[in-house]
Amino acid sequence: MVEQSTIEQNFDLTEILGRYKGASRDALIPLLQDVQDLIGYLPKSAVTQVANFLNLPTSKVYGVATFYNQFRFDPVGKFHIQICRGTACHVKGSARVLEALQRELNIKPGQTTRDGVFSLEVVSCIGACGLAPAVCISGKVHARVNPDEIKSLLKQYKEQKSAEVTV
Ligand code: FES
Repeated sequence: MVEQSTIEQNFDLTEILGRYKGASRDALIPLLQDVQDLIGYLPKSAVTQVANFLNLPTSKVYGVATFYNQFRFDPVGKFHIQICRGTACHVKGSARVLEALQRELNIKPGQTTRDGVFSLEVVSCIGACGLAPAVCISGKVHARVNPDEIKSLLKQYKEQKSAEVTV
């Protein structure tokens, strides 16, 4: 995971919270979605603001948010990896691809590597079912991904990043 600063930025959620004025606790999921759409992830300060707004314990908000794959608690990495776990990809072995990604990156879905290079997300379908199992890395779709190729695939991206740094 990305190392967080001890002084976290306090995000202004006034506009979003204003849209949910008078809402019940049932609004928690859509509210968190809106916050994530705005910021890109759910920082601690935002979760606290949402909890206070809905009059819920912060632990309860985290409990709900961590249940859903769609929420993330770190900023995305330089390369954002979306592994498809939709039906077609599942049938073609995406579970093993996900395992390989988690093993190589040493993170779970929703997390970002400590160096900020890669982040991982599980998605339900990326519209490339004929290319299953599919992995999308920062918008580029990789087709028929073999778990044994994950290491070299990630290496290509790492080298790409190194080349950018040295230019
Ligand atoms: S199920 Fe994976 S791309 Fe559609």
